Amino acid sequence: MEKAWRVGVLTGGGDSSGINAFLRALCVGVWKRGGEVIGIRNGWKGLVEPDLQVLTPADVLDVTLKPGTILGTSRTNVVKMGAVNQVVQNIEGHGLTHLVVIGGGDTLSIAGAVADESPVPVVAVPQTIDNDIAETDVSLGFSTAVQRGIEAVSGIIPSNRAHGNPMLVEVMGRASGWLTLHIALGLEADFVALPEFPWSVDDLVEVYERTGPAILALIAEGVQTAELQVTHSRFDAFGNPALEGVVHRVAARFAERAGRYPRVQVLGYVLRGGPPNSFDLNLAWRFAVGTLHALEENVTGHMVAWRDGTTRLVPLGAVVGRERLVPAELFADFRRVMVR
Ligand code: F6P
Repeated sequence: MEKAWRVGVLTGGGDSSGINAFLRALCVGVWKRGGEVIGIRNGWKGLVEPDLQVLTPADVLDVTLKPGTILGTSRTNVVKMGAVNQVVQNIEGHGLTHLVVIGGGDTLSIAGAVADESPVPVVAVPQTIDNDIAETDVSLGFSTAVQRGIEAVSGIIPSNRAHGNPMLVEVMGRASGWLTLHIALGLEADFVALPEFPWSVDDLVEVYERTGPAILALIAEGVQTAELQVTHSRFDAFGNPALEGVVHRVAARFAERAGRYPRVQVLGYVLRGGPPNSFDLNLAWRFAVGTLHALEENVTGHMVAWRDGTTRLVPLGAVVGRERLVPAELFADFRRVMVR
């Protein structure tokens, strides 16, 4: 007889809306098969210093629309710590029959390393507002973050226009410009700077002088040009710099050249809040079903991807170490019809 399921689940890295909807759907699916779900607290950290608890129906009651993650999260780099074997031992020591990992590229890279060593199957789910995970058309939480960004900025444009101010808005996304680009789609932005492509503050000043004064510029947090002289003082355990605030450097350079200081807004965690939208609610339950299928097949070292309107399993080896960036042709098309 097959051993009863004891499915461990953890959420790592930056959170987004839709994680809790996924967790609830996963729990319901596992419970209906007579299994248990064990919530691992604070990402991979909860498997290094074991912090696990059996999830009950009360734990996932009224969580579907809740942003954040009810399990907590962290950016624990188990590989760098040399703790992969310790994690594997803890997975076995706590009697887990499967491990489900939800998160972005860094979290999934650890899932790949653990899957390589673990006799217990490991299945991953792509979740990040950055939408930069390879081999999936979209990641959980991206769509809601786009909507949040559009709503937040559209709410402040009228005031800005009334004052005739140039406005610069910084958008999260690390090295990828997907979030900035998609937020720009709803805002009639006059200028968009993405990390993937070269640009200069002079380009921005040119737009201001041509179409200003109340221009709207969206600046992805990951843009780095020599003239901005960005230096980073904080790094996470995966070596990612804390990027917040680059827009202030852009503003200073802009003011020097345009003779006017722009209004600056940093969207930050606004993008991660709010209830998941309809797209992410749909993705959450479809990812849960895809995960359950993978658990039933004892698949390991794979990610449940969203491809062509359905879920598909892809090996983590094809995902880890690759970033999904905005293609140059797409950005050229965007600029052709979306910016003046
Ligand atoms: O990777 C998701 C993300 O929101 C990035 O867009 C952002 O740069 C980063 O996380 C911020 O991380 P933290 O919450 O640790 O400051």
